[in-house]
Amino acid sequence: MAKSHQLLVSVPSTSCAPIWDIKCSFHSLIVVLIVSLVAGVVYLTGESGKLLFEDNSNSNSDRGKENEESLTYSSSNNKCNLFSGKWIFDNESYPLYKEQDCKFMSDQLACQKFGREDLNYQHWRWQPHQCDIPRFNATTLLEKLRNKRLVFVGDSLNRGQWVSMVCLIDTAVHDSSLKSMHYRYNTSLIIFKVKDYNATIEFYWEPLLVESNSDDPVHHRLPERIVRANSIEKHGSRWTNADFIVFNTYLWWRRPHIKVLWGSFEKSDGIYKEVKMLRSYEMALKAWADWLEIHVNRTKTQLFFMSMSPVHERAEEWGKAKGENCYSEKEIIQEEGYQGNGSDPKMMKIVESTMDELKHRGLNVHLLNITQLSEYRKEGHPSIYRKQWDSLTEEQIANPSSYADCIHWCLPGVPDVWNELLYAYIFNNY
Ligand SMILES: *[C@@H]1O[C@H](CO)[C@@H](O)[C@H](O)[C@H]1NC(C)=O
Ligand SMILES: *[C@@H]1O[C@H](CO)[C@@H](O)[C@H](O)[C@H]1NC(C)=O
Ligand SMILES: *[C@@H]1O[C@H](CO)[C@@H](O)[C@H](O)[C@H]1NC(C)=O
Ligand SMILES: *[C@@H]1O[C@H](CO)[C@@H](O)[C@H](O)[C@H]1NC(C)=O
Ligand SMILES: *[C@@H]1O[C@H](CO)[C@@H](O)[C@H](O)[C@H]1NC(C)=O
Ligand SMILES: *[C@@H]1O[C@H](CO)[C@@H](O)[C@H](O)[C@H]1NC(C)=O
Ligand SMILES: *[C@@H]1O[C@H](CO)[C@@H](O)[C@H](O)[C@H]1NC(C)=O
Repeated sequence: MAKSHQLLVSVPSTSCAPIWDIKCSFHSLIVVLIVSLVAGVVYLTGESGKLLFEDNSNSNSDRGKENEESLTYSSSNNKCNLFSGKWIFDNESYPLYKEQDCKFMSDQLACQKFGREDLNYQHWRWQPHQCDIPRFNATTLLEKLRNKRLVFVGDSLNRGQWVSMVCLIDTAVHDSSLKSMHYRYNTSLIIFKVKDYNATIEFYWEPLLVESNSDDPVHHRLPERIVRANSIEKHGSRWTNADFIVFNTYLWWRRPHIKVLWGSFEKSDGIYKEVKMLRSYEMALKAWADWLEIHVNRTKTQLFFMSMSPVHERAEEWGKAKGENCYSEKEIIQEEGYQGNGSDPKMMKIVESTMDELKHRGLNVHLLNITQLSEYRKEGHPSIYRKQWDSLTEEQIANPSSYADCIHWCLPGVPDVWNELLYAYIFNNY
């Protein structure tokens, strides 16, 4: 029952609905969020002297050989924060694949196809200050994923990362008869399978992690957002047994209040209460953490959580005119440590403390802190270069920034680097 991937990338929708178009849901929630990311550094140490990352002194060495080498690099007491670094223009090694070569590309992210002419956004490499990240090798990853499931669970940003992962692998597996795309559970679950490895790379739509009225993969854009704060089993049962799980949840929470339901959506006797967003976010993450603690097989499953993906909707934050956004941006932000209003440090803090508590309870979820590195990439969003699900009005056409998507990321682009970092973690087994 493999359907064409076209389905995946062109599910039509009413009004403002596609899964991946979070933007429209944010018009109603211009929440002011002051950003100064919570301190705390993720140090990455290798297992017993076996280290994936090179010393900085070797960082300019032959990148072509680094993959083999770095997997066996040995060094002691080497700590490297992969998330502190800078972007380097590198049009020789990047992009890691060509947009038009990826058969499973999403029209929401295919910026070149939709007319973007400046393609520099495809050519940036992330360079941590203290080490190199290993170059992505699809074959090596597929070996690791043999007879295994890698599942991305979350919202459209996570879906973008999943598409990136599928493209990274797709372009490396040349025989198309060995690949397939399936839809399950009424398309909440999409499965990309590489047959000769019996490996699957899956995406599960679950934008708030807990059960919510936004769970329908197509029709979820409702005026009011309701979560069942304590309920995760309906979703959890779909992914708990996977070998690698990558979670995210952030943007769907960005409103002042969320309605919380105690009871079920099916029955009418539930109790509803408006709860401040941060509080409901905390409740949801707690329910998620409790579920993991009880249900995840620790010897089998590796868990990851992607930190907030920042949005670039207010150009005044990087010194442009008020009212502008990422539209027509071509340059990255060079200022080290730049933080805009598109990420919320209070939410980051809740994520961190949830992970810390889980760690105390013996369960390690790796927080991939991609917020800062993505902050620099104001030019990496689709802007107006993507499929528009609704036809544009004359007013919009006259004012392109009014419909620019400054939330998602063009591919090839930023999410490929998130996946390189994920790859580094998967092989180091932190
Ligand atoms: C994320 O990374 C940035 C930059 O390296 C750092 O300032 C911030 O404290 C980190 N946050 C966490 C939760 O590690
Ligand atoms: C890479 O970028 C440099 C500097 O912008 C340029 O001179 C060169 O022609 C580019 N090479 C390719 C292969 O695009
Ligand atoms: C990827 O790794 C395989 C071995 O697992 C190796 O044969 C191949 O050359 C590597 N590819 C690249 C592009 O480094
Ligand atoms: C294929 O992979 C699945 C996990 O995705 C596993 O349950 C199953 O046993 C594997 N099949 C074979 C023949 O190994
Ligand atoms: C899929 O949707 C149909 C119709 O809405 C419903 O009857 C069915 O139970 C759903 N299946 C699953 C697995 O959720
Ligand atoms: C947990 O996973 C390991 C490795 O796959 C397996 O050997 C073990 O039986 C699993 N434990 C449970 C309780 O399922
Ligand atoms: C965030 O927005 C508020 C309100 O517009 C503004 O006062 C503040 O300076 C902004 N912060 C940054 C970093 O731009």
